[in-house]
Amino acid sequence: MTPNTPFPRRAYSLIPAGQQHPRMQRAGRYTPASMTHPARMLPALARHLLTLYSRPGEIVLDPMCGIGTTLVEAAHLGRHGLGVDLESRWVSLARANLHLAASQGATGTGQVFRGDARRLAEIIPGDYHGRIGLLLTSPPYGQATHGTITAIPGSGVSKTDYRYSDSPANLANTDLEGLLDGVAAMLTAAHSLLRPGGIVAVAVRPYRHAGALVDLPGALLEVAAEVGLHLHARAAAILAAVRDDGTLTPRATFFALHNIRVARAAGHPLHLIAHEDILLLRTPSPAG
Ligand SMILES: C[S@@+](CC[C@H](N)C(=O)[O-])C[C@H]1O[C@@H](n2cnc3c(N)ncnc32)[C@H](O)[C@@H]1O
Repeated sequence: MTPNTPFPRRAYSLIPAGQQHPRMQRAGRYTPASMTHPARMLPALARHLLTLYSRPGEIVLDPMCGIGTTLVEAAHLGRHGLGVDLESRWVSLARANLHLAASQGATGTGQVFRGDARRLAEIIPGDYHGRIGLLLTSPPYGQATHGTITAIPGSGVSKTDYRYSDSPANLANTDLEGLLDGVAAMLTAAHSLLRPGGIVAVAVRPYRHAGALVDLPGALLEVAAEVGLHLHARAAAILAAVRDDGTLTPRATFFALHNIRVARAAGHPLHLIAHEDILLLRTPSPAG
């Protein structure tokens, strides 16, 4: 958190999101084509937050839903999901994943809309306004995604599927200020959609840009305060398996590990980022 963030310190809890390898978490539950999305939420993390912060039958929204992890896990838990993504490619995959969940007996339903999350209130049908119990999302991380890594014997590695799209409206393709403005617009629109007491959960991690650590969680907390959302709680999702002997097996990408090794070999004592901040926000209650 940056020093001028106007929130008091709260209890901090840890969510073990990487006990199982990400590929195993998604195996059979998501279509194989889903793996082409560059930055998916871990299903274990979505399940944890959905279980804690929503009830069966409740409506859950992900305004930047990608391949629909929030919606699929919500459906398996008997919640009703609404998703939005700017890119028709990800919208199609999210719908396919919801069909798969329904074919596997998921009792919840889901709908996915193509649109710009900054105009959320116009995209979500009026019937749902004021009824959403949980908004669970993760913003795009600019150019910081690594996509799919393939080892080519004798000639190193190649990376594919590391871009969301080329669209200038995609918040991945803007600078930090543009991303924060976009998230502010999305959170402002979300106010009218949440039911009283509804929660906004944002999974967001710090990232390195040109060697410097960018405190995106801290910056988003400031944005949230500016648009009138209060910090309800804060947690950290552990993106590693925690073993019985206390050691951690990181679930990082090849390039994340490689960059750390190169920096250390050059004498820069960098550490791997192995967590995601979970910001739990809510609108002030009428009673204050
Ligand atoms: C980090 S990904 C979310 C991944 C998702 N949680 C999942 O598990 O698949 C962020 C998503 O935001 C979408 N996005 C970026 N700008 C957007 C905008 N202006 N409106 C709606 N979606 C947007 C991207 O296309 C991308 O799919």
